[in-house]
Amino acid sequence: MSGQIEFRDVSFSYTPGTPVLEEINLSIAAGEKVAIVGATGSGKSTLISLLCRFYEVNQGQILIDGVDIREIELDELRQAISVVLQDVFLFSGSIQENVRLWEKPISRQELEWAAEQVHAAPFIRNLPEGFTTALNERGTTLSVGQRQLLAFARALAHQPRILVLDEATSSVDTETELLIQDAVHRLMENRTSLIIAHRLSTIQDCDRIVVVHKGRIVEVGSHAELLAARGIYYKLYQLQYKDQLILHPIDTSIQSPKQA
Ligand SMILES: Nc1ncnc2c1ncn2[C@@H]1O[C@H](COP(=O)(O)OP(=O)(O)OP(=O)(O)O)[C@@H](O)[C@H]1O
Ligand SMILES: [Mg+2]
Repeated sequence: MSGQIEFRDVSFSYTPGTPVLEEINLSIAAGEKVAIVGATGSGKSTLISLLCRFYEVNQGQILIDGVDIREIELDELRQAISVVLQDVFLFSGSIQENVRLWEKPISRQELEWAAEQVHAAPFIRNLPEGFTTALNERGTTLSVGQRQLLAFARALAHQPRILVLDEATSSVDTETELLIQDAVHRLMENRTSLIIAHRLSTIQDCDRIVVVHKGRIVEVGSHAELLAARGIYYKLYQLQYKDQLILHPIDTSIQSPKQA
């Protein structure tokens, strides 16, 4: 699988008569990184739920490498795509079981490598029994940031062709925030990435930004292009992302909207 994705005329509703996504057309090249942004309730998470086939489209089709995902075995689809959702899913079991899941064998070495890459290894090593430390249901013995990093280790350990990430909005301390930023950056490397981005740093790491508004794609472009267009992205940027520049000055070449 090379990881090319296409949404072709996709429409969807959870309940008949209440469309949540309408006429979505989006083609993502293999290896491309796409950020999805939009107001709450605009349909972002639904878009990725459809790609992972948690729900089926009502109209149109979604293709991976030109093949309708309904024709791909679920197992194969789930192996090709690593999904990290806003609310990290952990189960009662050891740290390593939580990283490996139940799928293809992942060696201890690969496990440790993945944890190292996404900065999860230091906190795991500090746990009483390291990688074999038992977690309770939902992993509540870990902090929010630790759960997030563990989810990233899981995603990376499976070496997927496609990364789907619904970035968590919950706030963590500045140090953890920087670790998470870097981990996301590494996760996206060399794979097609579809990311619901809440962090300006992630958005800037992406090749293209797709703006979803009331279930439709309304703007597509680079950060600079969309700011210049003064549309919905520009408004979102002013409301949500501008403050992040103060805390994490990622790209100093960005002009503030006042200067633009
Ligand atoms: N399982 C569900 N059943 C019924 N309606 C749903 C379900 N999940 C989401 N919706 C509705 O679909 C619409 C889009 O929701 P979605 O979760 O895709 O938004 P979102 O853009 O991800 O929002 P957020 O930024 O808050 O995560 C909303 O109106 C929501 O209430
Ligand atoms: Mg969502």
